[in-house]
Order: sequence, then structure tokens, then C-alpha cells
Amino acid sequence: MTAQPHFAIAIDGPAASGKSTLARKLAKRLGLVMVNSGAMYRAVTWKALQENIDPHDTPAVISLLNRITLNCGDNGHTSTIAIDGFDPGDALRAQDVNANVSAISAIPAVREKLVALQRDYLNRTSIVMEGRDIGSVVFPDTPFKLYIDAAEHVRAARRSDAGEVDSVAKRDAADSNRTTAPLVVADGATVLDTSDHTIESGVDAAIEILRQQGLPI
Ligand code: CDP
Repeated sequence: MTAQPHFAIAIDGPAASGKSTLARKLAKRLGLVMVNSGAMYRAVTWKALQENIDPHDTPAVISLLNRITLNCGDNGHTSTIAIDGFDPGDALRAQDVNANVSAISAIPAVREKLVALQRDYLNRTSIVMEGRDIGSVVFPDTPFKLYIDAAEHVRAARRSDAGEVDSVAKRDAADSNRTTAPLVVADGATVLDTSDHTIESGVDAAIEILRQQGLPI
């Protein structure tokens, strides 16, 4: 067996902590592909809502999961997603998706299917992947792990500044308290609080942490 030539930088944290922006900038600086794992959970949620499936009806969600085709790829810079050949685009960030994605993502069968697709990226490329369980479940063996946080009022303001209606605190509570793959600071992760950082100073701080974790940069 040959060693896996690709590596993953795992970025986890609560909603609106700044992890997507940071992951995108970091990937750009390091020449890696940024993978947004939340988009996969959002895509399944979007499809369930399209089909009027109750996100709390686990058997119905599992049956949907078995019917759909999810294509997770990349454009050389960021991840791409198509569900039955269609990219929902901005609809993935709609209010009804925000309100229902935590229920869908708490279903173990959903996680099992999406985690396999997330791990498959490493067969193709090196990545910065952001989510909730990337350092704890998806890539527990990677030495490169960050947990991005920010004060709750800063996170709520960031989300409304972005024009989104999103009950950040409610979603965080659901994501942190679920039984399967809850949001945690993974073993070996370094916490970076971005409350007082600008975007660029946050990226610099993240790069310094990754250097200390052994990334040759
Ligand atoms: O952008 P934001 O941080 O608000 O959310 P996101 O990364 O798009 O994730 C949306 C939702 O998907 C989260 O609230 C979780 O319920 C779920 N999720 C998850 O369970 N595991 C992941 N690795 C990523 C997202």
C-alpha cells in the first residue's frame, strides 16, 4: 500500500465564526482546494424541502438519500456540488434551509453517506475542509486542525450583515448537542478566536498555527 499523497487541513467551528472565509483565503494562499462540507448537508436539506419531506421524518429522509445522486467535485479552487445533476446555488443559504439543516445533519445515515464523499476528496487532491466534525470524525488523523470561534454577538452580526436570516444560536445548540458527530474542539485542534481579527490578520494567525502544527510553509 502506498502512502496517501494528499493531506487535509481541518477547520471546524460554530455558525458564522468566520471559518468559511478563513478556509477560502487559506486555501488560496496555500494553493489547495477549499471544500465546504456544510454545502453537502444543505443540499440534502434543500432537496428534502423541495420534495415536501419533513426533515424530522428519518425514514423519509433516508429513502430520499437512497434515491438521489450527489456529485461532489471541485473547480480547482473550491468544491462544487450537484444534486441529481442540478446545482442549487444560492438557494442553499435560504432561510428554510438554515432552519432545517441541523435536523437533517443529525441523522446518522446522512452523515455516513456525506462523510464518505468528503473523505473521497483526498483521493484526488489536497484540501482545506471546513465543517463541524472534520477534525474529529472525517480526518481525525490529520495533524492540521483549527477550531475557529468568535463571540456570539459578533457571529450574529456577521450573519445579519450578510443579509441572512439565521438563528445562529439555535443551530449551534442543535449541532453541539446531537449524539452523532457533535461540534467539538477535536483532539489536537488549536482554537483561534476571530472576534478581534480582520480577515487578513485571521489568515496570518491561522498560518502561524499550521506552521506550529508542522505544515511546511
Ligand atoms: O456557514 P455556516 O457555518 O453557518 O454553516 P455550514 O457550514 O454551511 O453548515 C450548515 C449546517 O450543516 C450546520 O449547522 C450543521 O448542522 C451541518 N454540518 C454538519 O453537521 N457537519 C459538517 N461537517 C458541516 C455542516
